[in-house]
Amino acid sequence: MSPPLAKETREKVESWLRYYEDLGIRSFYRERLANSAAGETAPASSLDAARGEGEKEPVVRAGAAALRAPVTPATKIPTLPIVQGPSLFEAAERVEGDTLERIREDIGDCTRCRLHKHRTNIVFGVGNPKAELVFIGEGPGHDEDIQGIPFVGRAGQLLTQMIEAMGLRRDDVYICNVIKCRPPENRTPEKDEIATCSPFLLRQLAVIAPRVIVCLGNVAAQTLLGTHKSISTFRGQWFDFRGSRLLATYHPAYLLRNPAAKGEVWKDLQKVMTVLGLRPKKR
Ligand code: URA
Repeated sequence: MSPPLAKETREKVESWLRYYEDLGIRSFYRERLANSAAGETAPASSLDAARGEGEKEPVVRAGAAALRAPVTPATKIPTLPIVQGPSLFEAAERVEGDTLERIREDIGDCTRCRLHKHRTNIVFGVGNPKAELVFIGEGPGHDEDIQGIPFVGRAGQLLTQMIEAMGLRRDDVYICNVIKCRPPENRTPEKDEIATCSPFLLRQLAVIAPRVIVCLGNVAAQTLLGTHKSISTFRGQWFDFRGSRLLATYHPAYLLRNPAAKGEVWKDLQKVMTVLGLRPKKR
């Protein structure tokens, strides 16, 4: 029989279990120490190019493994649960009967990371829950925090113009962010904040199952593709993201600072339009 867990370890296990439960994961197994996952770390993303069948644009397979959950090395704390399956995030997407409402409920009045301390509203996401096209930004700014709606400030107005230029309305697409709470002074989200919040984004994507995902800026692109490369090195290329096509382009806030880059973003959006069979809005 296993010895009882030390209080500190038990509390840690309980808090992890609560966290997984929030993600909709309720089944676990404990690996024996001899077969433990010591050394099981996220392999670096490959971003290896592979041409998809019948594709005009190269499709690159994303390093989904890089999005693995942190698995505590069993050599250190052998009693911690190890999540079965290739990836916590992949498991999170397989939540039976998951819905956007349930994901929002699971987020609750979140205090999982430090960002809750300064936020006014959690900014979950808006738009068509069956959208063929999802835009993903970094995290809420001041206006989004106040209104609880993503992309409503200056960058958001530019995004709305871009969506309309594609011949769509905001209501046709789904818009959300990697993190749901505004970082103080709009700083870039920290690694641990992204790790805590992004499973909810992955569940949103699994529920919506869009044909195309557009990552706006480095944070969204690097999070979903599991890379540290700068977006400028892979912007405008197609990637496969678990059955959806993913393309990264510059963030509208970047375009406000660098209007000359708008042409490149428009080229990227035209690729999206081709895939979705959209015609640009008549002016
Ligand atoms: N920038 C983002 O990345 N997301 C928003 O919702 C607003 C600005």
